[in-house]
Amino acid sequence: MDLDEIEKAAIEKIKQLSKEVGIDISGAKVRRSSSRFCLGVEHGDYNGTELFGVGTDRFIWLGYKPNNTSKVRIFSANFPDDGVIEFDLGDVPAPLSVKDSWARFPYGVNYILNREGLELTKGFDAVIYGNIPGGGMSRSASLSLNLILTMLEVNGIDLDDKLKIVDLAQAVENDYIGSPCGKLDQIMILFAKKDMGTHYNPKTSSIDYIPLGAGHTDFRIVVMDTGTVRPGLEKSTYKVRRNECEQLVAILQDAGYEIESLADVTDKLYNEIMARFGGDHPDLCKRLDYIYNAQKRFYQMMDAWKAGDIETVGEIFRKDGLGLRDDYVISGDELEAMCEIARSVGGVLGERMLGGGDKGASGSLVKADSVEALKAAIAEQYPKVCPDFADKYAVHVCGVVDGIAELDGML
Ligand code: GLA
Repeated sequence: MDLDEIEKAAIEKIKQLSKEVGIDISGAKVRRSSSRFCLGVEHGDYNGTELFGVGTDRFIWLGYKPNNTSKVRIFSANFPDDGVIEFDLGDVPAPLSVKDSWARFPYGVNYILNREGLELTKGFDAVIYGNIPGGGMSRSASLSLNLILTMLEVNGIDLDDKLKIVDLAQAVENDYIGSPCGKLDQIMILFAKKDMGTHYNPKTSSIDYIPLGAGHTDFRIVVMDTGTVRPGLEKSTYKVRRNECEQLVAILQDAGYEIESLADVTDKLYNEIMARFGGDHPDLCKRLDYIYNAQKRFYQMMDAWKAGDIETVGEIFRKDGLGLRDDYVISGDELEAMCEIARSVGGVLGERMLGGGDKGASGSLVKADSVEALKAAIAEQYPKVCPDFADKYAVHVCGVVDGIAELDGML
C-alpha cells in the first residue's frame, strides 16, 4: 500500500471507532505526527553532540474537535482496552502516578502546559490511531508533540518558539511519565521536512536543513522491528548509560577539566583523559570512546550527505552500530541478530540498533534495488535465530516526510 492508501485506511478506522465509542469528530481536523530516524549521533543528545536525522512515514493520526466544554475525551485505537480517557482540564493525576494506561500522555501534556503557565480551558473530543512500532522510532515523542500542538491550538495559544515546544514535550516524558529521554526525538519530529535531513546544533540552538546532495545512489531507510517490547527508558540500560556519562563528566570536572558534557572531550583532551582515567574507569571510558568517535564520524557523515555520497553515510552508520554494540553496550540480542542478517546482504550500506536500546528496532540504509533481498534474508533467517519473535517482527521501508501535518476534509 502507498502512503495515501495507508492514510485513508487509518482515517477510516478513526471514523469507524468514533461512531462505535460515541465521540463526534465529524468534519473535524486531523493532525498527523511522524516517527523519526536518527542518522547521528545516536545517544548524543544527552551527551551534548550535534544531531542529524529525518522524519519517517510511520505516523500517529489524531482526529479532534473542540467540544465547548472544559473536558477532554479521547479514545485510542491502539489501546482500546483503556476505553475513552476523560478528564477535566487542570484535574489530572499527580506526576509518575499513572503506570498502566496510555492516558498518562494526555494527562502529562495537560499537567506540563499548566505548570508552564499556559492556561487551558477549552476541551476537545478526539480519536487517535498510530502505526509507529514501539522502541526505536519515537512513538512516545510523536504522541506527546501531537497532543501538545492540539491542546495549544484548541486553546488559541500560539507558541512561535518551536524549541520551547520540544522542551515541553521532553518535560512530559521526563517529569510526568518518568522517562529520562533527551531531546533528539522531539527535535527530529517537530522540525522534520520532506526529503530533508534536519541538523541541530545544541551550542547555538540552531536548526538547518540539508538536502541529500545530487547524484546519490537511490537508497531506502529500512526499519527492522525485532518484535521485542522495550520497557520504558527508565527501566532500561538507557538510564544506566545516562548515569555513567554524567558520572564521568563529574569526575572530569572534579579533576579540573572545563567541560559540560562528554561532547566537549575532543582531540588532545581525549587522549589525555583516556591515558589518565582509562585504568581506573575502564567502562566509563568506553562510553566516552563511543561518543568521541561517533562525534568525529558525525562531521564526515554530514559532508558525505551533502555530497550525495550515501555509501559513506552507510559505512559510518555501520561503524556507529559497532560502537553502540561494543563500547556503549546499549544494543540487544535481537537487535544485533537483525543487524547481522542485514550486514550479510549485498547492497545494505549500513545497519545498527536504533533509539533507546536493549529491544525494539534496528535500522539499515539499503540500496533501493536490494530492499527485496534484505526482506527475503530476514524472512528466511530471523525466525530461526529468534524463534520467540517469529510472528512478531516486521520490516518497514520508510520515506522521508514532514514531521507534522494538518489534514482537512478527511473526517
Ligand atoms: C531514545 C531517547 C532519545 C535519544 C535516543 C538515543 O530515543 O528518547 O532522547 O537519547 O534514545 O539516541
